[in-house]
Amino acid sequence: MRLFPKHAKFILTVILAVLATVTVGQAQESSAPPTNMPFRYGLGYEQYLEHCSACHGQSLDGTDKGPPLMHAYYMPSHHSDTAFYRAIRRGTQQHHWGFGDMAPVAGIAENEARGIVEFIRWYQRESGLF
Ligand code: HEC
Repeated sequence: MRLFPKHAKFILTVILAVLATVTVGQAQESSAPPTNMPFRYGLGYEQYLEHCSACHGQSLDGTDKGPPLMHAYYMPSHHSDTAFYRAIRRGTQQHHWGFGDMAPVAGIAENEARGIVEFIRWYQRESGLF
């Protein structure tokens, strides 16, 4: 088995490269922040992940518990920023979808709510929603 060490090294390198590619690919798929997000939206994005993404999805794409916010319904012309603040403070009754009501989201300061909405608007704009 004089050849083995040479080949083993090569094979190991290939396996590691494949593993690295697969791992990085998965990481990007599951929790990638929006690409090119300016630094100033970082805190709003974190707050969004903490308080909203469980229902509205990490990429505003919705889940089985809530609708996508990347949707024409939630453009500024249809749901103003005030509607977003109201939804956070008071929740909202089911009316557009079949997910049930949205309960008020507790523990969000006013400036945090503003950060969340600024992040959502930036991401909607960036994605060409409006
Ligand atoms: C527990 C699940 C859940 C969480 C957490 C949640 N939402 Fe919702 N949200 C919903 C559902 C369900 C609806 C859809 C109601 C309907 O049928 O129109 C909704 C609707 C909305 C609407 C539309 C309100 C309207 O007037 O129609 C906005 C805006 C919104 N959510 C923003 C947020 C933001 C911002 C957060 C985080 C601070 C958040 N939501 C957290 C479930 C959730």
